[in-house]
Amino acid sequence: MQETLGTGLFGGHLHFYPEIVSTNDEAIALAMAGAPEGTAVLADAQTAGRGRWRRSWISPPGVNIYTTIVLRPECESSGASQIPIMAGVAAAEVLDGVCPGRVKLKWPNDVIIGPKKVCGILSQAKITSKKIDFAVVGIGINVNAGVHHFPKTIRESATSLLIESGGEISRHDLLISLYENLEKWYKQLLQKGFEPVRKKWLESAAMMGRPIRIAFKGESTEGIAKGLGDDGCLILVVEGNEEIKVSAGDATIMRWKENAFGD
Ligand code: BTN
Repeated sequence: MQETLGTGLFGGHLHFYPEIVSTNDEAIALAMAGAPEGTAVLADAQTAGRGRWRRSWISPPGVNIYTTIVLRPECESSGASQIPIMAGVAAAEVLDGVCPGRVKLKWPNDVIIGPKKVCGILSQAKITSKKIDFAVVGIGINVNAGVHHFPKTIRESATSLLIESGGEISRHDLLISLYENLEKWYKQLLQKGFEPVRKKWLESAAMMGRPIRIAFKGESTEGIAKGLGDDGCLILVVEGNEEIKVSAGDATIMRWKENAFGD
């Protein structure tokens, strides 16, 4: 069903589904068929919502936001890794309006309140001849989900705006703010480059200057989080004061030890 929210470019073409497999899958299909930039897919529920690393994204009906937007930036494939960072910054800024001063970013683009995730981003891109053909940015926000909506296994690591703020939030108003803010940050990324996004990300990052463990494919790397590279990599200072760039993995903020490297 095509609807309109009265937003600008993002959400101007809105495809709404009461239930869908995954808004990312649908956005990719629409983009392959030529959907214009800003086309948004929105669902009330997903039957197989996807997270990073093929994890599932809990997507019950009636409570949350599940949306994916089609982007067609005219840039090299290397710019693709900046898109989810930009989307994290935009989403965190909107959620900060609901829980002021409490919303942080966890590398690469988890939006968290305290230690718990409230919003996740899954960005996928189609690259042709080293150029971005299109990208889709999928955003899941736990809005009015109660604790009972989360499986017991993730209750320690997931939260919602309702749980954190104590009140119901209008999904409609939040969605409009999300589309408007994403459009603002996307246009800024295209016009001014990555620097403003990086600056805002660093301001909102929960982990800068703190000891971090990155787990990836059964291996883990520890170090002090120092910065964010142009390619969205996390810059870590590891043992021996060496700087390394980490491009993938799950980050955990560790407690300070006597010596951050534990020796
Ligand atoms: C993550 O944190 O692992 C990313 C989660 C992304 C979830 C959203 S919900 C809307 C869109 N459709 C999907 O299947 N996934 C994204």
